[in-house]
Amino acid sequence: MHSDQVVRRIHDLRQILTDHNYRYYVLDSPTISDAEYDALFRELMDLERRFPQFQAPDSPTARVGAAPASTFGSVPHEMPMLSLDNVFSDEELTEFVDRVRRLLGDVEPSWIAEPKLDGLSVELVYEDGVFVRGSTRGDGMVGEDVTANLRTVRSVPLRLRREANPPQRLVVRGEIIIGRGAFRRLNDERISAGEPAFANPRNAAAGSLRQLDPGITASRPLDIFLYDVAKPESVGLATQHELLEILPEWGLKVNPLFRPCGSVNDIRAFYRDMVAQRDGLDYDADGIVVKLDRFAQRAVAGQRSRSPRWAIAYKFPAQEAITVVRDIAVYVGRTGAVTPVALLEPVSVSGVVVSRASLHNEEELRRKDVRVGDRVVVRRAGEVIPEVVTVILPDEGAPRGPAFAMPETCPMCGSGLVRRGEEVVRRCLNESCPSRVQESILHFAGRNAMDIDGLGERLVEQLVERGLVRDVSDLYALTAEQLLTLELVGDKKAENLLRSIARSRQTTLPRLLFALGIPQVGEVTAALLAAEAGSLERLMGMTPEELQGIPGVGPEVSSAVAAYFSLSATAERVCRLKDRGVTWPDVITKPLEGPLSGKTFVFTGALSAMSREQAGAAVAELGGTVGSSVSGKTDYVVAGADPGSKLTKARKLGVAILDEEAFLALVGR
Ligand code: IVH
Repeated sequence: MHSDQVVRRIHDLRQILTDHNYRYYVLDSPTISDAEYDALFRELMDLERRFPQFQAPDSPTARVGAAPASTFGSVPHEMPMLSLDNVFSDEELTEFVDRVRRLLGDVEPSWIAEPKLDGLSVELVYEDGVFVRGSTRGDGMVGEDVTANLRTVRSVPLRLRREANPPQRLVVRGEIIIGRGAFRRLNDERISAGEPAFANPRNAAAGSLRQLDPGITASRPLDIFLYDVAKPESVGLATQHELLEILPEWGLKVNPLFRPCGSVNDIRAFYRDMVAQRDGLDYDADGIVVKLDRFAQRAVAGQRSRSPRWAIAYKFPAQEAITVVRDIAVYVGRTGAVTPVALLEPVSVSGVVVSRASLHNEEELRRKDVRVGDRVVVRRAGEVIPEVVTVILPDEGAPRGPAFAMPETCPMCGSGLVRRGEEVVRRCLNESCPSRVQESILHFAGRNAMDIDGLGERLVEQLVERGLVRDVSDLYALTAEQLLTLELVGDKKAENLLRSIARSRQTTLPRLLFALGIPQVGEVTAALLAAEAGSLERLMGMTPEELQGIPGVGPEVSSAVAAYFSLSATAERVCRLKDRGVTWPDVITKPLEGPLSGKTFVFTGALSAMSREQAGAAVAELGGTVGSSVSGKTDYVVAGADPGSKLTKARKLGVAILDEEAFLALVGR
């Protein structure tokens, strides 16, 4: 490519990717598939790697790469970052509203209410539309410089959308959070990697943002919602609702659930709506924030030293209750990691009956010193598993059960539980432990994995117990007769289940890789591996060093992946899956530059010297691409033995046809 063309293409790709980021992260309505996005992203990465002179700090590729810091610098806030006073009842809310009324004198206040996000507040500074500095709240006056970490947060734009004329300088504030779904996945991955689980999304977000190595932050699913600017008048805004409408136009994500309120009754109605909705939200909210909408009114109301007089947090009722621990059990996950769980006297926590609570991990259990018979405070938030917050110690002298000791053997299969190296977590290392097999099947069938509908816990338990399924590949050999022998399975259910199993046979490489439950490989890593390797065969053949060359794949992941594929059980599993009809197309990776650049090949019939995969790889290595069907855009059809209709079509369209020999000569084999 000519240098002008490179510059133009880089510029276009940045624009396109920034646009798609915006649609995806801010508007929440993507218009291209992840695979298409990845292809564009990789094209840009590739160009920037080859032409480093055109790298730019606001390129969509420039999110990771900063070296670990030894400490965080400090950042004085040009306006203090205040905290909020709390109210807990409608009466207290009314008192607040009346107080503000008095402060405003004659003018009628106009209000706006927003969910109060339970994360940590940060400040972002944009100069000439470019993200230049990000900091934590700190003590409100001076925060910590976490710019490199915030750059890795996908919903923090590296530059504002120029087309919307953002201000020359913008100091904007908001909350860094981890969504509940992302939190669950993150914890699953941590547990499978032998790391201690996070207690809740807030802790996970805080721990992730305050990492000296931005690479670690980048691997965590942080998200942001903006809700404040330091000097709103200076950017030409009069009200909070205008602010919340214009921020997304500038590229900044806001929580759409805000509501302008004319009266205290409107505020109460919003509060009640949010209380009703809170469990269904994908993030933790611990109340609503009620603010004066007009900035001019805020100035009149004024502020105390640490909190404004014009805003208040109306907290939700705590989702907590007191109950008794009946027993402490340990659960064995798919990777063998054991997690302690408190079995509780069932108790209603804001309308939901809770009978189990997570104790997260052994250390946490020891720290909280939870014992059988203890009275405990349990808390739930959304769909996240309820947790034991604390033990209510009995009066002095009153007896208490013995401290809990983790079992030495697996409660499911009796194998010894071991700690590997530095790991905090104990594991059952028996690959055929029924609990592990069950959990791996449930994981395999999961929505983001093979997506087998109707394969629930009870069913999987029976399948494993009866020896009908010993490995995930056995699912594809199940028959209606076998299913009908299970409890609670009738004709209809068996038929539906077989249909969804059959449907799951056609899958994608990222899904398959995630479904296999490779240690350290979550959805994101699975997609990375698929995109880089292109095919399972190629991935299986990669060395740990090659794997580590994939951007985003560190030494732990690469050795875990290589170890998984070196097991004979893995090879057998893959073979059985293929034999039983599971298929996935290769991922088309970004073509390399080479003599076949821009040329598309389609294969038909069998080659004798190499497999289709090998032939495809040979084409890709020379810069060509492989298509699956013949069209006017096809450059060559390679016809092996017993060619199919593609050959006929190629003849009809006048596409060049190569026999095996000609093909081998072309690719130099
Ligand atoms: S406004 C001066 N709006 O709550 C008021 N804060 O307890 C500026 N928070 O430090 C904050 N959601 O971290 C505002 N929608 C929201 C919020 C929110 C969460 C946090 C923020 C603040 C803390 C005060």
